[in-house]
Amino acid sequence: MPAEEIRVAIKSDQDIVLARQKGRAMAVELGFSTGDATLIATAISELARNILSYARRGEIALQGVLGSSRVGIRVVASDDGPGIPDIQQALRDGFSTSGSLGLGLPGVRRLMDEFEITSQPGRGTIVAVKKWRQ
Ligand SMILES: Nc1ncnc2c1ncn2[C@@H]1O[C@H](COP(=O)(O)OP(=O)(O)OP(=O)(O)O)[C@@H](O)[C@H]1O
Ligand SMILES: [Mg+2]
Repeated sequence: MPAEEIRVAIKSDQDIVLARQKGRAMAVELGFSTGDATLIATAISELARNILSYARRGEIALQGVLGSSRVGIRVVASDDGPGIPDIQQALRDGFSTSGSLGLGLPGVRRLMDEFEITSQPGRGTIVAVKKWRQ
């Protein structure tokens, strides 16, 4: 179990690629299948893309976690951006304020096992997700 938390500052497209790669590598190191590692990497990309699109900058933190009898990965995406006024709406398939597909957040929710979102308008957004190894 890698004890080390990995934090990737997000402020450019390259940082999204880096966060995705680091997440994939950590998932493989934790023993996730390559298929699940790819799903985790996809969730990280979506969260990092949202940071860049809506908050301009923020951070992705990655950490291995130990449940009572299982191993997982936790991803926390945080930013000090504009926040999300209506979280229920933002989680709906097809809702987008940028004319995009509006599938990012609901997709991340489906890809991961646990999903928590906290946001305060004007303060920022934290999306914390976990996936457990099969
Ligand atoms: N970090 C964030 N800060 C502020 N608003 C956000 C953030 N992440 C998401 N949102 C808001 O939630 C909406 C839904 O996000 P979601 O990722 O599901 O869709 P999208 O980014 O619009 O489209 P897609 O991800 O499919 O390209 C966004 O349009 C945006 O208004
Ligand atoms: Mg998105």
